[in-house]
Amino acid sequence: MHLLTTVVDMHRQRRALAGSVGVVPTMGYLHEGHISLARRARAENDHVIATIFVNPSQFGPGEDLAAYPRDLPRDLDLLEAAGVDMVFVPSTAELYPPGYETWIDLADLPTKLEGAQRPGHFRGVATIVTKLFNLTRPTRAYFGQKDAQQAILLRRLTVDLNFDLDLIICPTVREPHGLAMSSRNAYLTAEERQRAGVLYRALSAAAEAYERGERDAESLRRGMAAILAAEPAAQPEYISIAHLETLDEIVGEMRVPALASVAARVGKARLIDNVWLGREVG
Ligand code: PAJ
Repeated sequence: MHLLTTVVDMHRQRRALAGSVGVVPTMGYLHEGHISLARRARAENDHVIATIFVNPSQFGPGEDLAAYPRDLPRDLDLLEAAGVDMVFVPSTAELYPPGYETWIDLADLPTKLEGAQRPGHFRGVATIVTKLFNLTRPTRAYFGQKDAQQAILLRRLTVDLNFDLDLIICPTVREPHGLAMSSRNAYLTAEERQRAGVLYRALSAAAEAYERGERDAESLRRGMAAILAAEPAAQPEYISIAHLETLDEIVGEMRVPALASVAARVGKARLIDNVWLGREVG
C-alpha cells in the first residue's frame, strides 16, 4: 500500500492508474463502518484509494477539531488489511495553503437538519470533497448512510458540478446493541455507549410503525420523542421526518420516501443517526 502526502504525488500516482478507481474519503480513527466502504470499493474497482484528513473547515468554532481522535498507524494497518492500494494523508497546509480562497456552497440543503445546527459545516464538507474528487478522480466514490445529509448533499454536488462518477451510499454499520459506529463514540464512557443505543431504538420504532402503515409524520416524530425522553442520558437536538431529497420536514401525510433522523447529545458526544422510510439505501 502506498502512502501519499502531497498534492503533486497524488496527481502523479493517479495519472499512472488505468482502469476503475474506487475512492473512500475519511477523517481517520477508522472503525468497521469505514472499513465496510473500503471492502465494497475493493470488490467493485481495479484500484482503491482511501483518504485520511481531519478537515478543519468543516468544524465550527466551538466544535471538537482539536480533540478529534487520531491513530494513523492503526488506520494504515486496517486499510492495508481491507486491500486498499493507496492512502492519501495530506497536511492542512497542503490542502489549504496560504492565500486559499475557493469554497463550494450549496444553496438550500445546508440550511436543513445538521446544517441548521452546524453553520458552515457543509461548506467545509462540499469544498474538501470537491478537492478530493479532483485529486483522486474516482470512478466510484463511497459514502456512508450514517451521515445521510452529507451523502445526499454530495450526490447533488456531483450532479451539479458534472463529476463523472457514481456516488455509492453504503448501509450504516452498528454495534450489537444498535448504536451506529462513529469515531466520536470514543468520547463515550462504557455506560453512555450502552445508553446511546436509544437513538436507534427510537428510529427502529419509527421504521416499524411505518412498516405497519403509519403515514402521519407527526405521529412518527412523537413516537421517537417519547422513546428518547425515557433515556435521561440523551438530550435530543432534533427529531425529524423529512423528504429524502429536499430534506424539508414533512407535514401531515407521508406520500414520498422519507429520512427519519435524530441528533442528540450523550455525555461529551454529539451523536447522529437515521433510517430511510420507503426507499432502500444505495
Ligand atoms: P468520517 O466521519 O471519517 O466518515 C467517513 C465515511 O465513513 C463517511 O462517508 C461516513 O458516512 C462513513 N461512515 C461513518 N460511520 C459509518 C458507519 N457506522 N457505517 C457506515 N459508514 C459510516 O464523513 C466524513 O468523515 C467527512 O465529512 C468526509 C466525507 C471525509 C469529508 O471530510
